[in-house]
Formats: sequence, structure tokens, C-alpha cells
Amino acid sequence: MKQQTFYRDTWVEINLDCIYNNVVNIKRFIPNATEVIAVVKANAYGHGDVQVAKIALEAGATRLAVAMLDEALHLRRHGITAPIIVLGVVRPQDADIAAEHQIAVTVFRKGWLQEAEQSRMNDRPLHIHLKLDTGMGRLGIRTKEELIELLPFFHMPSFYIEGAYTHFAAADELNTVHVEGQYKKFLCMLDWLKEYDIQPPMIHCANSATSYRFSERVFNAVRIGIGMYGLTPSVEMNSLIPVDNKPAFSLHSRLTHIKKLNVGDTVSYGATYTAEEEEWIGTVAIGYADGWRRSLQGFHVLVDGEKVPIVGRVCMDQLMVRLPRYAPVDTEVILVGQQGEAEVTMEEVASYLDTINYEIPNMIGARVPRVFKRNDEIVEVMTRFSL
Ligand SMILES: Cc1ncc(COP(=O)(O)O)c(C=O)c1O
Repeated sequence: MKQQTFYRDTWVEINLDCIYNNVVNIKRFIPNATEVIAVVKANAYGHGDVQVAKIALEAGATRLAVAMLDEALHLRRHGITAPIIVLGVVRPQDADIAAEHQIAVTVFRKGWLQEAEQSRMNDRPLHIHLKLDTGMGRLGIRTKEELIELLPFFHMPSFYIEGAYTHFAAADELNTVHVEGQYKKFLCMLDWLKEYDIQPPMIHCANSATSYRFSERVFNAVRIGIGMYGLTPSVEMNSLIPVDNKPAFSLHSRLTHIKKLNVGDTVSYGATYTAEEEEWIGTVAIGYADGWRRSLQGFHVLVDGEKVPIVGRVCMDQLMVRLPRYAPVDTEVILVGQQGEAEVTMEEVASYLDTINYEIPNMIGARVPRVFKRNDEIVEVMTRFSL
């Protein structure tokens, strides 16, 4: 394989062994016959969709899920033949493209099925997963009347009903009232399907949090995203994770410059930081154009295994840190991940930004190359400049 390279020392490292082990752990935890659907939407939560999809399938996932048809087609173009489900809404006029590439779509609207049926040119059945809105309030049918309207389409040769599913809104919260309510509604809606003799082979309701907490209620497939990446679905769930999953994503850079400031010298735009004594200030080649947000001013990174503060405003391409002592140019800086005993977790970054860990790997943009490692060896490098 031709190895891509990059010319700025700022990169994301994806430890594919972690993804592999995380999938194996999840498989061990859920009932035997349950399929693992690896959720690789949004470029595998910023990790790299093709590479994550391949390793997840190798580890025993049998299907993939994405949010958009474009994401599914991207996987197909990269040689991935495993079944794929699109969890978001596909345009009805694109039903043929989905069917041609054997991509299953989410369906819940009569108007959608009508339009899709009228626009079909090829006779490959389109695989559909019926979405049931049990309380997420996002997509899906909510009433029996809506289901009845869809029934004629389920018997048409152009559609094959492969699955029925729902999504829980609060499975990652300690209070289980909402998830219990949704589960009951799901059972009731599945009874409606039985009543009309609709028997999709796949029934699924579980994201990572549901799989961890209610593994006895996952039917025959789970949709695993955050757990596969080695992250916790919520801070509340930290102590409830029954498997030892490890984060696959770390963010690295290096010092590109180092200087000693005198008392009164200032740093970065707006001169918001002033040295109160003689201080070593290092410059790091990452900024908000890479997704390392401006509001991370005041947060910390790791240098030589120590937490050091980001001082002054984060610029578009660079930021400055205050060092306890001189460190040479090219010293490695860890923005997310471990260095020696010290660690900056995704959860810490998220908490500083008043958001959730899901957002952090997603926010690191395509300008930052993804370096994929297995057994400590680089196996692939993805950079947007090679596309
Ligand atoms: C419908 C659906 N299923 C499954 C998932 C995966 O969830 P998690 O990453 O919490 O495992 C998502 C993610 O947002 C989703 O939207």
C-alpha cells in the first residue's frame, strides 16, 4: 500500500487494536446470536470510516450504519461489501442508487414510499428498516394509523422489509424512567407489526449505553458507536461500563518554537496573556482551523508528561503554552491522550467546552491527518491533501 505522508507535525493517531478489542469486548458482553452493527457515521466519529469499518468487521461486526447515503457510498467505493444501513433520511428519488449498491435505508413515511416507488427504475428490492418513534421525537412512525398506511408498500416487490428499530433518548442517564417508557412502547409497536404479519428479520433498539445496561433487551442486533471508539456514553455512566474499552483516538503535535518571555511581555491576539515572571513559552502548530477551538484558551496539553496551560488566544493554526522549563523544538505535545503517567481525556476536553465527548473527535477536522496503527506499526495514513 502506498504510504501517504504529511508535512506538519500535527496528527491524530488511531489505535486500530483498541477498536478491534472494543468490538470483541462488546460481542462477548451481549447475547450470542446478536449482530453487532458498527456505527461509522460522521467519518466514524472523526476516526476514519473506511479503516474503522474494516477493523470492526474483522473483529466480528456484521453490518455498518451511517447517517447519510453519501457516507454509505463512500464505504462502497472503498471496497466495503458488508451490509450497510443508513440511519438518517435518504431522498426518495435516490432509492435506486441505494438499492443498486445494496444499501438499506430508514423508512417511516407513506409519502416517501410513494415517491420512491414511482421513481424506481431498477427492480432490485430496496432493503428498508422501519423506524419507530418510541419517544426520541426525531424520526419514525408514532401511531398505528401511520403503520397501517405503510402496509401496502411492504408487500410490493420493490421493497424488502429487513428491519424495524427505535432509538432511546436517555439510555445513558441514571434515571431509567424514560428508557423504560420507550422500551414498553417499542414492545407495543412490535405487537402492531405482528398483528399485520410484518416480520422483519432484524429488530434493534440498542446503542452503546443500552447494550451495556440492558443487554437482555437488545433483540437481535445492537448499534454500537461510542463504545467501539472506547469512550463512555455519558459521565453518569462512567462507573457502569461493564467492559474494559480503551479510547482509540489521540491527538498529537510538536513544539515548533520556544522562547523566554520577560515580565510584562504578552502572548497572542488581543494580548490577553501577560508574563508575570520570566517564562518559557512554546508554540504548537494546531489551532481552531484544525478544530482545536478558540475557547480552549486556559485548558491544558501534555509536554514531557506534565500538564501545561494554553496561554493567550488560540489562533487559527497555532497556539502557545507556558512551559515549566526549557524544552527543545520538536518536543511532542499531546492534546488528547496519554503521555507517561499523565493523560488528557476526551471527557476533560468536553467538560471544558461544556459539551459531550462525542463532539471532540468529530470536531478535529480533516486538515489533521489520521495515522492508523496496528501492533504499534503505522499501517495507513489518511490526509485530505492526498484526496
Ligand atoms: C440511530 C442511532 N443508533 C445508534 C447510534 C450509536 O450510538 P452510540 O454512539 O451512543 O453507541 C446512534 C448515534 O448517534 C444513532 O443515532
